[in-house]
Amino acid sequence: MNKQRKSALSRRQFLQVAGSTAVALSLPGILSACRPSSASGALKIGVLLPYSGIYAVLGESITQGMQLYFEALGNEIAGRPIELITEDSKINPDVAQQKVRKLVEQDEVAFVTGIVSSGVLAGLRDYFHDNQVLCLCSNAGSNAHSRAAKTPYIWRTSFTNWMAPHAMGTWAAQNVGRTAVISVPDYAAGENNVTSFTHSFTAAGGEVVAVQRTPFPNMGDPAPFMAELSATGADLIYAFYSGSAAVTFVKAYHDFGLAQQIPLTGAGFIVEEDVLPEQGAAAQGVKSTLFWSYVLDNPQNAQFKTDFHAFAGRDADVFAVQGYDTACVIDEMLKRTEGDTAVGQLIAALDGIQFDSPRGPFRLDAHSQAPEHNMYARDVQPVDGVLRNVILENLGPIVDPGDDSMG
Ligand code: PHB
Repeated sequence: MNKQRKSALSRRQFLQVAGSTAVALSLPGILSACRPSSASGALKIGVLLPYSGIYAVLGESITQGMQLYFEALGNEIAGRPIELITEDSKINPDVAQQKVRKLVEQDEVAFVTGIVSSGVLAGLRDYFHDNQVLCLCSNAGSNAHSRAAKTPYIWRTSFTNWMAPHAMGTWAAQNVGRTAVISVPDYAAGENNVTSFTHSFTAAGGEVVAVQRTPFPNMGDPAPFMAELSATGADLIYAFYSGSAAVTFVKAYHDFGLAQQIPLTGAGFIVEEDVLPEQGAAAQGVKSTLFWSYVLDNPQNAQFKTDFHAFAGRDADVFAVQGYDTACVIDEMLKRTEGDTAVGQLIAALDGIQFDSPRGPFRLDAHSQAPEHNMYARDVQPVDGVLRNVILENLGPIVDPGDDSMG
């Protein structure tokens, strides 16, 4: 990458310093104070998210969750004003590649956050690694980036894709049925769900009888996929879909009569708050596992839901929680470095960050570079006339194993 970014003094930066603090500094002091990795001036954060396509709502919620947290700080951390620079990555690794270059090389952001799709994260992994740019990934859960493709420059504030299916595999074998058919979109995150669910479901005595992979990002006409699922005669479906693909899948599951025939389970994104209003009655009774629910009863969640509604004019969803928690990690990280953004210091500061999140206890695990948090088994039921993911069971804390030994 442009090594210049770390050392050169732009004209604007020189003028800023020369006009304010230069008199008090020696020359090396001036140079270090002027590097983008310094501890003064506006703190530019690159936010790379989908604002169009099937995951557009996820991008919107993550952004608003971050904005809410930063607004409560007066948009300032360690004395530095925060500037979020947002870019639409779509769900396209090539577009994301151009956008990340723009953020890092032109805007000179201190680090990058966002990234929803595992395919996009995979496409950017070497850029972050080779150029030593920190990425605080706030959604994309690809297991590889906590395992074989791990780099010190990518940390997750969200989850890994191993977590929800791992929890559901065990829970479904104990509570729903003995044979399962899996349905996922045909890309990395779907594949992670297949391996993880299969591992824990089988370990708990279940058998996966078929795996269905649908076109990603748009599955097209769901009818043939529903017919295929129905024909398996399995005791249950396990599915991973999110955003508008989750709406398509769950509505089709209902409209084609599968809801009467075969229980639907999944990673919680399939019936999250972002899609539930549109799914309506079609989602009722769907069981899922996730690290948060709207109805989760803790003081942080109560406050968060109220504040988010006042800020965004709508109910919070798990992606808003992820944005909020990402901002909390950024806050804590920069407090620890006293506002310094030298990449080595940022990374050192991440180790062991923990706080009480709306999702419950949150701890950044240095081995998997992803959170440890509770998993909850949930069921879509009406609460005061509104469909919510009622918590059936707190399944306790989960942390990615950091290798492929458990799926
Ligand atoms: C992913 O691509 O890893 C992914 C996308 C959407 C989700 C969760 C994971 O809701």
